[in-house]
Amino acid sequence: MKRILVTGGLGFIGSETTIELIANGYEPIVVDNLYNAKASVLDRIEELTGVRPPFYEVDACDEKAMEEVFSKEKIEAVIHFAGYKAVAESTRKPIEYYENNLGSALTVLKLMKKHGVHCIVFSSSATVYGVPKRLPLVETDPVGSATNPYGETKIMIERILEDASKADPSLKVILLRYFNPIGAHPSGLLGEDPNGIPNNLMPYVTQVAIGKLDHLNVNGNDYPTPDGTGVRDYIHVVDLARGHVAAIKRFDTLDGLDIYNLGTGKGTSVLEVVHAFEKATGVKIPYVIAPRRPGDVASNYADCSKAERELHWKASLTVEDACRDAYNFQRKNPNGIQ
Ligand code: UFG
Repeated sequence: MKRILVTGGLGFIGSETTIELIANGYEPIVVDNLYNAKASVLDRIEELTGVRPPFYEVDACDEKAMEEVFSKEKIEAVIHFAGYKAVAESTRKPIEYYENNLGSALTVLKLMKKHGVHCIVFSSSATVYGVPKRLPLVETDPVGSATNPYGETKIMIERILEDASKADPSLKVILLRYFNPIGAHPSGLLGEDPNGIPNNLMPYVTQVAIGKLDHLNVNGNDYPTPDGTGVRDYIHVVDLARGHVAAIKRFDTLDGLDIYNLGTGKGTSVLEVVHAFEKATGVKIPYVIAPRRPGDVASNYADCSKAERELHWKASLTVEDACRDAYNFQRKNPNGIQ
């Protein structure tokens, strides 16, 4: 299995995965509608790998355009990243989120069936666990109810894939539940490039570091955590990308559907991230304690032993590595990828 369709392949995680696929001898075929990514990412992938993968500027919901991609390319597996992903925006635009995220997944599944493609990796999220009853989270923990439409789309697509896999024994599905992806490619050429003021912690911190934003607002210091600030399982995007390559290899022995948490297994608080950032970069991050953000859980981290056992994958980079790489990317791209 070599030819992998990567939907959303120019995005933050998709582009890094495309690079790792190339580095491991695969032939990614990239689809991206450039809603949340820049065309120049393809040039940067080529610069880093020496390979320019076939690229289609196509919306994964557009069945006709996607049909052409499936007809033209001999696709053997799909990694489906394409989707809207901003939690706060999803509460303002639920219809768009359901339509786009469910629509693209359904389109891809329909075309896989039509073209005899049997393997799909889906970008899921730790958000599907809802409010954790116990930590660390294991894959057999119940799927909860998400606090926002974005999270609900992940739960619904997981369900669709489960039903599709039950109905079709030849379909192989891997659900990857990401914890908190941060960091950037160590070259500084690829990284997280949010539109407007970032909602997520790391891009906010890097923009404070280069002086674009004045200070970090720490959302709550009265959580039941060691220092009162929220605890998350931050995973370097390069580790996460490698997890996808490991998932593709797993198809050789997989029957049906399987689920893997991709994290580090370690929780880090907001203030610990700030200190790790300062240590890794030498740049001070001014912060103020602000109110809790609605919908946030106190702590969230993964048990990743299943991925280690069955995917032979384990995160190897630290939060400090991720801080250094994210800062390097932000410095080299102060106004994002142009
Ligand atoms: N935080 C701040 N200040 C900020 C931004 C974030 O203190 O300016 C805190 C949050 O309160 C939280 C932590 O930093 O404690 C991490 O927040 P992020 O927004 O970076 O990440 P979340 O854990 O909220 O969300 C991430 C992904 C979602 C995914 C979820 C799954 O962004 O897509 O993990 O658990 F659904």
